[in-house]
Amino acid sequence: MKEAFAVMDNKGHILTLGIESSCDETSVAIVADGRIVLSNIISSQIEIHKAFGGVVPEIASRKHVEAIIGVIDAALKEANVSLSEIDQIGVTFGPGLIGALLVGLSAAKTIAFALNKPLIPVHHIEGHISANFIEYPELKPPFVCLVASGGHSHIVDCRSYGDFRIMGRTRDDAAGEAFDKISRALELGYPGGPVIDRMAKEGNPHAIQFPKVHFNDSLDFSFSGVKTSVLNYLNNTKARGEEIISADVCASFQRAVVDILVENLMKAADKTCYKKICLAGGVAANSALRKAAEEAALKAGIEFYRPSPILCTDNGAMIACAAHYASKERRAGSNLNAFANVSIENIDGLFNKSAN
Ligand code: KG4
Ligand code: ZN
Repeated sequence: MKEAFAVMDNKGHILTLGIESSCDETSVAIVADGRIVLSNIISSQIEIHKAFGGVVPEIASRKHVEAIIGVIDAALKEANVSLSEIDQIGVTFGPGLIGALLVGLSAAKTIAFALNKPLIPVHHIEGHISANFIEYPELKPPFVCLVASGGHSHIVDCRSYGDFRIMGRTRDDAAGEAFDKISRALELGYPGGPVIDRMAKEGNPHAIQFPKVHFNDSLDFSFSGVKTSVLNYLNNTKARGEEIISADVCASFQRAVVDILVENLMKAADKTCYKKICLAGGVAANSALRKAAEEAALKAGIEFYRPSPILCTDNGAMIACAAHYASKERRAGSNLNAFANVSIENIDGLFNKSAN
């Protein structure tokens, strides 16, 4: 058996500094004992990328460089701790935009080296899942988690802290990506999720039938079909000179996506026989998804967990939390690299003690 790492400061609390920079949020948090958030500073670039209708990778990297030092300082200040009191540093190493990830990694490596403190690499999806541990201090694995964001749509069997098995994944677009593309087609702006969520409340979810893709014997998703179907509906309605009722389109599209997400999540829960389901990722902020998953869990007699909206989208606290639990098994050294694509399965296998 692998020898476990031990980290403990002299006051009996473990303070983790978590850094997240995989996409368009520069975020740094200080978390005590894995679940107590002392600070969680999020500097969002959304307003800058709005003009382009999506995240521009080169701009994202530059903005992370400009923001990172100020965000670290603000997180320490709000937590009222000094850098020397930090016990370990957690950082997102992937998946994400390489240039953006490298900014967070460089900052984390520098702090870890200067303080001579452990550096713990965190998988971005592992971070999203961990947001549930912050929201629910009593929650423990195993459970099944639906992780849906702008870059990912996965159903994950969370067997224990840091030990994950993918039960289903998208074969094309991520759920959040589909929200963003439909929003763009309706000229509702970026990011699409929050605005479609709002508009859908005013619309009829049964007004238009958009397709829901199922795969036999697989919990995989496909959202490109529903996206194309919405785009065709918009083009055909325009060509006929008929009025497009955006609220109905939003509500019907959202229903198609939410139905399939919840259906597969419940099938996964059934397969594992776990009595707990969780949501995670930016799309988990969706009000219809939260409601539908909660109702399905209630009907099945299982427990339902979801982070507050602020913990669903990218943030440093979820990374610090994941790092806290990974710290016994995982370390990296100054050669830690960023990965644009990397599986959540077997993260510990990528890193071992010799890397330190
Ligand atoms: O997790 P996240 O902040 O970044 C990634 O890791 O991708 O997720 C961002 C995604 C975007 O696609 C955004 O449109 C979507 O989450 N999103 C939502 C909602 N809020 C954010 N999707 C549906 N409904 C929402 N309320
Ligand atoms: Zn994310």
